[in-house]
Amino acid sequence: MKLTIITGASRGLGAAMAGLLIGPTHHLVCMARSALPDLQRRALAAGCALDARRVDLSDIPAAVRTLEESLSGIDPDVVSEAWLINNAGTVLPVRPADQTQPAEIVAGVAVNLAAPMALTAAFLRLTANWPERCQRKVVNVTSGAAHKPYQGWSVYCATKAALDQFTRCVALEQQDLPRGARIASLAPGLMDTEMQAVIRNLPPGDFKEQPRFLAAKQSGQLVAPEAAARRLIAYIESSDFGMEPVVDLRHH
Ligand SMILES: NC(=O)c1ccc[n+]([C@@H]2O[C@H](COP(=O)([O-])OP(=O)(O)OC[C@H]3O[C@@H](n4cnc5c(N)ncnc54)[C@H](OP(=O)(O)O)[C@@H]3O)[C@@H](O)[C@H]2O)c1
Repeated sequence: MKLTIITGASRGLGAAMAGLLIGPTHHLVCMARSALPDLQRRALAAGCALDARRVDLSDIPAAVRTLEESLSGIDPDVVSEAWLINNAGTVLPVRPADQTQPAEIVAGVAVNLAAPMALTAAFLRLTANWPERCQRKVVNVTSGAAHKPYQGWSVYCATKAALDQFTRCVALEQQDLPRGARIASLAPGLMDTEMQAVIRNLPPGDFKEQPRFLAAKQSGQLVAPEAAARRLIAYIESSDFGMEPVVDLRHH
């Protein structure tokens, strides 16, 4: 059985990845604040075990507790592969740093950075003694914004850059272990999801680069989340996964 834990599975890239992984030999743990009726219906029809967990990932102890509860119901002896995909993210707040409220900063950092860090730590700890034949992989979904600064995106850019550096550190640690997990930050490129709609619908003037994102949508440069999900899953399955800690999938 293949086990995949995906955060942010209610829409966009996360929902597309979960949809592609539905199958009789898969056990999916899907986390989001929203319910997942569509995925649950499809999983049921396909004979796929789907554990849908409603959790606000900005509550870090709740996020870790949710992972612990999900894994406590799994028999490690029947798991051939275990993936954690930290996909949930938010582009908000979009505003110059000097106009950003502390609570907005804390929420953005929690969802984009603290939750993936804490879930990675818990996943590695809880699966450390699983049978040797079980391949463990951790994916952190990152962004080109980790490298390119944007006015108004200080929280988003900073959290993605930090997530990449976290991934590099953990990759070094796991490399030194006899049965270490593989880990990588993967950037999917621009996708036609609600996150892009949020950017396009910001009040004009709040985000200097908004016209570029409007043009990207109008000229068809946004990739469908299903296509991005296919590319991401193919990369996770490939022997390349884990060789580089940070990978921009647009260049692969
Ligand atoms: N779209 C792009 O162009 C693009 C480009 C590069 C990288 N990315 C990255 O790709 C990933 C997926 O983005 P997307 O475009 O699919 O975004 P999206 O359509 O906005 O979906 C975001 C997902 O994250 C979940 N989420 C957000 N806040 C949460 C919270 N507090 N607790 C639990 N879940 C939460 C949402 O679920 P609920 O609202 O139901 O909780 C939703 O399932 C993100 O990490 C993003 O940074 C996106």
